[in-house]
Amino acid sequence: MQGFDKNTPRESFGSQIGVIAAAAGSAVGLGNIWRFPYVAGENGGGAFLLTYLAFVLLIGVPAMLSEFVVGRKAQRNPVGAFRRLAPGSAWPAVGFIGVAAAFTILAFYTTVAGWTLEYLYLTIFDKLDHLQKKDLENTFTTFVASGWRPVMWQVVFMLLTGFIVFKGVKNGIERSTKIMMPLLLLIIIALGIRSLTLPGAAEGLKFLFRPDFSKINAGVMLQALGQAFFSLSIGMGTLITYGSYIRKSENLGKTAISVSLADTAIAILAGLAIFPAVFAFKITPEAGPSLVFITLPMIFDQMAGGVIFELVFFILLAIAALTSTISVLEVAVAYFGEELAMGRKKATILSTVAITVLGIFTTLSMGPMPELSIAGLSLFDLLDKTSANVLLPLGGLCIVLFVGWKLRPEEVVSEINNAGTLKARLAPLFMFIVKFLAPVAIALVFLNGLGLFGFFGGGDL
Ligand code: TRP
Repeated sequence: MQGFDKNTPRESFGSQIGVIAAAAGSAVGLGNIWRFPYVAGENGGGAFLLTYLAFVLLIGVPAMLSEFVVGRKAQRNPVGAFRRLAPGSAWPAVGFIGVAAAFTILAFYTTVAGWTLEYLYLTIFDKLDHLQKKDLENTFTTFVASGWRPVMWQVVFMLLTGFIVFKGVKNGIERSTKIMMPLLLLIIIALGIRSLTLPGAAEGLKFLFRPDFSKINAGVMLQALGQAFFSLSIGMGTLITYGSYIRKSENLGKTAISVSLADTAIAILAGLAIFPAVFAFKITPEAGPSLVFITLPMIFDQMAGGVIFELVFFILLAIAALTSTISVLEVAVAYFGEELAMGRKKATILSTVAITVLGIFTTLSMGPMPELSIAGLSLFDLLDKTSANVLLPLGGLCIVLFVGWKLRPEEVVSEINNAGTLKARLAPLFMFIVKFLAPVAIALVFLNGLGLFGFFGGGDL
């Protein structure tokens, strides 16, 4: 099959482990370690976690598999995939929304990714040592609002992302994620242990694991769904794109399950590291996007050899973010490269520059340009919340509808069982979920969350 650039074959991942590392690299990122704890904290802890887990299992895994099926079957970027599988229809619009979402997600995601680089710098130059809670809060707020510094780190991060995508998928991502992801896991476990042994940690465990069902409302459900999609990289064609690089011999169902498990495990571990410390140090769980950047330095300060852990942690967090930003940028690059026949290099430069410009405004909206806000939400919050809670659920809904109703069931099952060579015993269950359960559940949660029905009393985004 021809690649983006004339006369070169279309790329693919080289091995099964490589596929899992790349897809898990996409899934595991700031969504697990930065976003999950802060959204869980804002939405009542345990009740949120339970709802989140239910959505990952019932909707997330099938939606992920749906994206893989579409991508691998079509061997194309998200827009081209729908064009090829449903010629002459309106379905490619779903792909276009995905490409647009790549821009909005990266614009705020690279802001936060830039913060991890600043914290790396602060660690190296000993500037977080022995700071009290108040000083850490000040450090964070002053930095984020300062304008040029966060912009500088964001640009650095975008350049790194562009650089790797420019070089192609196989060597860079596949090789590095295989080493880095296990290391990240180890550090988070160490952090969790330290956090759990702080005096007063039990409160945090209660917050995370004891669901208070009175806290579940339509808003919390939508946030949990949005977070599940965000964390699993579902709903904007990232996994369609990666699916298109998966060889025909790989087991798509197994891949979807392994990646989802790994992603969920890391989110829970991040929760275990953060909430006990939040309560031990009397930080408010609703602190929002700053939560991780204030809590973790406090834990590191209490650990023997904390600085080393801190250093390695921020390096790995930056890398985890990088393996995610690459996967998002790849959507735009695959689209421009393949559909507009620009080739990989031109497509990478164009999308990197465009996203960086949007990203800079997003970063500035948190400080020097507060006028960049709509309805009281800064551009940053707006992109964060609308990407996860609007674009991704809509994209996810379209993808499961496409696989459930537009493709023929034989085609879908054949893609899952590799033309009859795998058993794929769960295929009938999968078909039932993508036809009925997932679309209905997503639509209900989405409409309720937006307050159109208000069955459960409505709720804020
Ligand atoms: N899942 C990644 C994280 O948790 C972010 C991400 C990568 C993403 N690709 C995506 C989010 C596609 C939504 C859609 O950090």
